[in-house]
Amino acid sequence: MTAVRLDGREVAEHVKTTLLEAISKLSYKPAIHFVRVGDDPASISYVRGKDRMATSLGVTSKVHALPEDTSQAEVETLVDELNQDSDGDGILVQLPLPSHLDAQQILVNIDPAKDVDGLHPVNIGRLWAGQDGLFPCTPRGLIAILKHYDIDILGKRAVIVGRSNLVGKPAAALFLREHATVTLAHSRTQNLPKLCQQADILVAAVGKPGMITADMVKPGATVLDVGLTRVDGVIQGDVHEDVWEVAGYLTPMPGGTGRMTVAMLMDNTYHAATMRRAQN
Ligand code: GUN
Repeated sequence: MTAVRLDGREVAEHVKTTLLEAISKLSYKPAIHFVRVGDDPASISYVRGKDRMATSLGVTSKVHALPEDTSQAEVETLVDELNQDSDGDGILVQLPLPSHLDAQQILVNIDPAKDVDGLHPVNIGRLWAGQDGLFPCTPRGLIAILKHYDIDILGKRAVIVGRSNLVGKPAAALFLREHATVTLAHSRTQNLPKLCQQADILVAAVGKPGMITADMVKPGATVLDVGLTRVDGVIQGDVHEDVWEVAGYLTPMPGGTGRMTVAMLMDNTYHAATMRRAQN
């Protein structure tokens, strides 16, 4: 058996086409601001991709690239200014930040209505409480891929490996909202292979290349690979290539979940703009 390839690029194109049309009907251009500190090459490349995608959809985009030695107070002042800017709809502070900065403190300063990353505690609370809000892009992308391919989530057993604030924890909440039975596994989980074998939907979000091996996957299961590590310049996922022979559905890496992250960021920006401007 060879797994069906869940083509994140294709789903992302679909989301983009829908957004392009929706944005073209607005009487204003939604606007997003990116805050990037230092010169981490991966962050530079991610922000460039997000900036380009925004522009291509008719979203006004501005990148605030700050030097490595920017102080906590300077970043917070910039975030305050962006909060006050009545034309700005979204604010994204690219992570990770340099180690002298307190990322959590910066994130709580973002106006929750502009928090297009869904990382503010207010949005995290809304996510777990079943309320409307802005929710993290990568986990939203996972659900969108499954829905695009008509893969059932309701009542299924979803095992998520990795408990990060960006992916694992919000993915657990979103799968729960879709009525999956959710297990959130992590580095201290005992007998991880046995747990993974029970998954109808297995999400790998650790950042350890090839850690999900074929023997950990139930035949026919759906496997979503979120891990992304560059090994000698080559992008590798958390899912071992042998899993193609066991899984029913699998996202490739690259070309899988990453494309959806940016598409869902644009979807969040659209929602932030329409919700915020309806209230003003
Ligand atoms: N760094 C890696 N992924 C992300 C993301 O989705 N949002 C932010 N802000 N930083 C990231």
